[in-house]
Amino acid sequence: MLPPASLSALVDASASAIKNLLPHVAPPRLGFVLGSGLGFLVERFENSFSLPYAQIPHFATSSVQGHEGKLVFGLLCKIPVVALQGRSHAYEGVAPWHSAFPSRVLCRLGIEALVLTNAAGGIEADMRPGEFMAIVDHINFSGANPLTGPNDPSLGPRFLDLSRLYCPHLLERMRKAAKACAVPLREGVYAMMAGPAYETPAEIRMLRMLGAQAVGMSTVYEAMAAHHMGTPVAALSCISNLAAGLAPLLSHSEVMQTSAQAAAQFCALLEGFVHTFKGAHL
Ligand code: HPA
Repeated sequence: MLPPASLSALVDASASAIKNLLPHVAPPRLGFVLGSGLGFLVERFENSFSLPYAQIPHFATSSVQGHEGKLVFGLLCKIPVVALQGRSHAYEGVAPWHSAFPSRVLCRLGIEALVLTNAAGGIEADMRPGEFMAIVDHINFSGANPLTGPNDPSLGPRFLDLSRLYCPHLLERMRKAAKACAVPLREGVYAMMAGPAYETPAEIRMLRMLGAQAVGMSTVYEAMAAHHMGTPVAALSCISNLAAGLAPLLSHSEVMQTSAQAAAQFCALLEGFVHTFKGAHL
């Protein structure tokens, strides 16, 4: 299913509905998309208010365990932020433009940067579950593109330049945050596969040869949609498991368990990142 020609009007409608439902929340400076099992960041928010996606017009709801389906506003390190606690994925049958739609709404709410997070399989031989990787680039192997269909020029250009999709300035802030809280941070290329099945060992060998360090089923569409609207993007993978062929078995419960164990470091890293926004606008 293609996006409507008036995608901008839908984005506006969702953003206005959110403002009407929560008229007292401060305009958020940063937006987060919290991936599989990583929704616990919202527990660190002060003065939080949440809205189930079902109450927001045009939001798809996620059916995946570990994806709450709530929009949460609050203060993180005293900075107003908003988080999508859970996302819908193309493998659930949601159109690519639609799975990126909530991220577009966050951009419309005026955030200065969008921070995408995910659980991902580690492809590098020396990676260990629980490690973190800042995404510096991606390979879109999903077979689809969220910008396919009519382009609404009021949102962004028809032919989008992806040369600097993951903002180098935000990456530098992430490096500083990692250093400050002594959390080791890798950097690498994220390959997006369509899912929902995990990859075969042969596919992982192929991805390694092509230069990917981590693999997952999300993030790329949201990154492209935000970039399309001119919002700077940072992205962080929690390596939840070794990719197929590198470990005996793969399961969603392992992904969820590792994410939960990585909670403290994940929160420290993102809080450190948010801290760099104190006073300073991007
Ligand atoms: N492959 C694809 N998606 C994933 C993985 C994986 O190994 N782990 C978490 N999400």
